[in-house]
Amino acid sequence: MSRPTLTAVFVAFLLTSSVAKPNAKDKKPKQVVPAIECDMRAGKINLPEFIVKCPAKCRETKEKVYGTGVFASISSICNAAIHNGVITNSGGKVIVMKMGGQVTYKGSFANGVRSLSLPNWRDSFSVSVGKPKKGVIYPSTLIFVPSRPTAENTVSPATEPSSTAAPPTTTHVTTPIATAPPITTSATPRVTVHEVREADSSYSVPNTSYKWNRMSTGDPTVLDPRPDNTEYEQYGQYPPEPEDHKPLSETGHTKDCKVDIAFLMDGSWSIGKRRFKIQKDFLVDVSQVISVGVAGPMMGIIQYGDDPVTEFSLKQFSSSKDLKPAISKIVQKGGLSNVGKALSYINKNFFSDANGNRGGAPNVAVVLVDGWPTDKVEEASRLARESGINIFFVTIEGPDENEKQNVVETNFVEKAVCRTNGFFSLPITSWFALRKEVQSLVKRVCDTDHLVCSKTCLNANDIAFVIDGSSSVGTGNFRTVLQFVANVTQEFEISDTDTRVGIIQYTYEQRLEFAFGQHNNKADLLNAIKRINYWSGGTSTGAAITYAADQLFSKSKPNKRKIMIVITDGRSYDDVRAPALAVHRKGVIAYSIGIAWAAQDELEYIATDPDREHSFFVDEFDNLYKYVPKIIHNICNEFNSQPRN
Ligand SMILES: *[C@@H]1O[C@H](CO)[C@@H](O)[C@H](O)[C@H]1NC(C)=O
Ligand SMILES: *[C@@H]1O[C@H](CO)[C@@H](O)[C@H](O)[C@H]1NC(C)=O
Repeated sequence: MSRPTLTAVFVAFLLTSSVAKPNAKDKKPKQVVPAIECDMRAGKINLPEFIVKCPAKCRETKEKVYGTGVFASISSICNAAIHNGVITNSGGKVIVMKMGGQVTYKGSFANGVRSLSLPNWRDSFSVSVGKPKKGVIYPSTLIFVPSRPTAENTVSPATEPSSTAAPPTTTHVTTPIATAPPITTSATPRVTVHEVREADSSYSVPNTSYKWNRMSTGDPTVLDPRPDNTEYEQYGQYPPEPEDHKPLSETGHTKDCKVDIAFLMDGSWSIGKRRFKIQKDFLVDVSQVISVGVAGPMMGIIQYGDDPVTEFSLKQFSSSKDLKPAISKIVQKGGLSNVGKALSYINKNFFSDANGNRGGAPNVAVVLVDGWPTDKVEEASRLARESGINIFFVTIEGPDENEKQNVVETNFVEKAVCRTNGFFSLPITSWFALRKEVQSLVKRVCDTDHLVCSKTCLNANDIAFVIDGSSSVGTGNFRTVLQFVANVTQEFEISDTDTRVGIIQYTYEQRLEFAFGQHNNKADLLNAIKRINYWSGGTSTGAAITYAADQLFSKSKPNKRKIMIVITDGRSYDDVRAPALAVHRKGVIAYSIGIAWAAQDELEYIATDPDREHSFFVDEFDNLYKYVPKIIHNICNEFNSQPRN
């Protein structure tokens, strides 16, 4: 051996030892933290546990994250770390620990990152703050799972375009001072976190009790030859291809489905392109199953974001065939999820007669919402309900217990829906499960017997006026009373299926002027009121109330509210208390209006409790007109304050 050779070996030895073997006894081994990009998915890194450094502003990249706490391996490490609160949007170090697959991953919203739900993924990971425990040093080298450079990498049906781009096929990237060989589970089986290995290896291996299933065995540089895109294969199981839905009409379900339906679709950015597409597919399915037609259901679509926009009105398409391409062409608007604003909009604009509202058909609004609304819905929903809109909520991936704190308005579904009995709310755990609900939703919106919010304070009553025709009233004042009755009637929606009015005039005796349903439109009814002749005689108010119960309310429809309005100008010759009590017990809501000489105690006996809201006293006939708005207001107030369940 020649000297130069020996020298070279010696120099090489010196170099090696100075780099690879810092004096472990004197100096703490330095943790090298490899940097990654925002889009780096945990599944790309072939190590059971490792540390990385995330750049700033990953939140803006909106890289996909699946799950909460435990994330599916296809999630972005950095975005998962922001979601979990391990780092902020300014980046930082993150320790990643691989875990086994989960049956489901629940999406949630946290720290400005919306994570998504995912069923049944093979591998998971958790993230923790990037401060290694004392004595633990993580690999300074990241080993990457190889990508198979075939076209298959880019045809995965369920990934967003950005994430299907195959990463470089580099399988082994080293940081500048990386020298120690990366350790795999097979090389160092089950080493506990706190165990510090010999100084010459310069780091210890953290808890690797979970064997990451793409980990190679033996030589860490020999990588598993399985193609990377196996991790996408499971996407194939959802969402299912559209089933060949048979229109329900064939089975009789939508035959009588004459409803005007507004679908409010979520166009906010948070939903993402893919889920927006799922939403459109769902609406296409609904439009086909429901058999749209002028004699049956008609449907329009509003897309909401910051503001609502009518994609098409109720009258724009009159067949399922025409709706399909129209829905498919809808382009996502983006913005927030302002559902409250959208509900105000449909109430004021969408369901107007000019826009195709058919009047005879119940109004239905189906709100599809990803997560939760970004504005308040309570007031807008109340107004919409009070004008007869049956509000349904289909909440996809709604807030879980931990997310409720982020929600703008707690219990927004209960505050918005027509009734809180469950019929009007359809919570769906994942977007991928949405399509299974087509039939169930169609069945509900077509179940007109249950669309109780079509009933409003103005259209759902049988109203009996019981009018005092005694001599003390006089012809002129009797005309004023009739004008009052006409003015009150004027405010209601009159038809056989809406509010009906019947009138009784009484003295000692009683006379049925006309029964419920005898005059079934407003003009006829107002004319009939005008034609009533003044009778003149005594005042038996008690007998008149009993007569109203027998002649009118006995023929009331079960789904109508029974309202009795007694108008009198004096004390009754007979007892009013027992007859009043009897009609109250039959569910009649009784109002009493006393003029001039009417007796206060009798007015209160007649009136339903609380008297203050059902009993009025007017000093003279000429002031009766002042009570028209008041009585309408009280009728509606009472109707609308009934518990919604
Ligand atoms: C290692 O991880 C497994 C599974 O996650 C756990 O059961 C075990 O307690 C951990 N061991 C240590 C020492 O942290
Ligand atoms: C009825 O309405 C008309 C028109 O608004 C009004 O002039 C009249 O005073 C009202 N009369 C009563 C008794 O309400």
